[in-house]
Amino acid sequence: MTKIKEIISNMLKVKSADVFLETAEKSELKKTLGIFDLITLGIGAVVGTGIFTVVGIAAVGSNPTSGAGPALIISMLIVAVSCVFSALCYSEFASMMPVAGSVYTYTYATMGEFMAWIVGWILMLEYAIGNITVASAWTGYLFQFLKGFEHILPHWLVNPPIWLINDYKTISNMCLRDGLDIHTQIPYLFDKIPFAINLPAIFIIFLLTALLVKGVRESTRLASIMVGLNLFVITSFILVGAFYVKPENWTPFAPNGMGGIFMGAFLIFFAYIGFDAISTAAEETKNPQRDLPIGILGTLVICTVLYVCVALVLTGMMKYNTIDFQAPIAYAMRFVGQNKIAGMISAGALAGLTSVLLVYQLGTTRILYAMSRDGFLPKILQTVHKKHKTPHIITWVSGIIVAFGALFLDINMSAELCNYGAFTSFIIVCVAVIILRHTDPNRKRPFKVPFSPWFPLLGIVSCGGLMVYYTYKSLENAVKDNALLSSTPVLFLYWFVIGVIFYFMYCYGNQRKNNN
Ligand code: ALA
Repeated sequence: MTKIKEIISNMLKVKSADVFLETAEKSELKKTLGIFDLITLGIGAVVGTGIFTVVGIAAVGSNPTSGAGPALIISMLIVAVSCVFSALCYSEFASMMPVAGSVYTYTYATMGEFMAWIVGWILMLEYAIGNITVASAWTGYLFQFLKGFEHILPHWLVNPPIWLINDYKTISNMCLRDGLDIHTQIPYLFDKIPFAINLPAIFIIFLLTALLVKGVRESTRLASIMVGLNLFVITSFILVGAFYVKPENWTPFAPNGMGGIFMGAFLIFFAYIGFDAISTAAEETKNPQRDLPIGILGTLVICTVLYVCVALVLTGMMKYNTIDFQAPIAYAMRFVGQNKIAGMISAGALAGLTSVLLVYQLGTTRILYAMSRDGFLPKILQTVHKKHKTPHIITWVSGIIVAFGALFLDINMSAELCNYGAFTSFIIVCVAVIILRHTDPNRKRPFKVPFSPWFPLLGIVSCGGLMVYYTYKSLENAVKDNALLSSTPVLFLYWFVIGVIFYFMYCYGNQRKNNN
């Protein structure tokens, strides 16, 4: 009995915010980032697959009764409002505790060791699995872009075999859709093992990993070029597309009522994820108390304005049910005869996806770095490169994990899993603010969430509501399709259980060894 009590008390042990601050002060990471860099990182992490791809399926729906239609702007506003409460909570923590681990660290300071590990474990789902989604979408846009140069590029480069640019699951779905026999489409090793590899996705992940090892400053410089191009393309779409808007396309406004609007909100949630990644760069920020809240909230406001304008223009240019699923924005431009702008959009999308990959990869490494520093992961992972001052071992490890994942997970599954990870972290950060206000009311808070605890509570209810709604719908469909065990909510549960097992098999003992 006393043993169980001891274990529970160890699991609930919090690490004081002061200890985190002391550790961060001794950090070897270089402090180079200002407001501009943070907003660049933020926009770089947010604007990507969501607005260039998911927006189509959110408007049209995967079946005639599920799309948001022109009411997509309402879905976007619902998500923006749910995110703003969490963004305020991130800002309070990031300015008060500018430490690398983001919500993982905030959980350790408020809910104890076990919850901190679970949150860190779930953050890996958001960041690393999110990156698998983006890497797969990157390959798609790369070939769309190359097709624009079909007349000057060699045929093999523009039209490579499908098994060199897709994962196995995507190819089998394609074969099912087109009525093809998969055995005739891909090679088999030793006549038995199917061979398919998304080579461009793996290539871009390793390239960006090498850049991240070189330095955070170099990485944000590339991100800012990509973000500039991306913003230019989106603004061009809004300005040019506005001339082709026909207000009659906005009726019916919400063809599938509130159900369509909420389904749209769940799907488009992916497009908003990323502003939280700024907090992972807290230890590398020059003036974190002032700059982090501006960076986090500024990013959210800029992206919301852009997204709402894109949704208004897109649904105004064509009837909502004719919007394209795969490349909705480029397709809309082609639809009105603006082929040059459509080509430019593919280039902008490629840049946008590259910046998301870069910032997410940066986020993954900084969270793992903080977790290794706290004894949850092997110490070797926190080694900092002598010359570049970056955690190079962990950067390569996370690059390899994402590249490996890109071999097995398809884009839809990884996007949904990433949403689950983000919902959880957005809810946890709100809970953590309420707890710390209670347990440590006098701590200096350079930025405070207004109307606490009401705003954090609204964050919990709105993100929790979307998560519960989606889980219900997804389980309902999975039961209908007889695929419950491979549905996203169940996969999320597996991930959680593996995390709990890993905690007891490795982290718990390692923590005690470290403390001694
Ligand atoms: N928000 C990021 C994207 O849309 C994850 O790609």
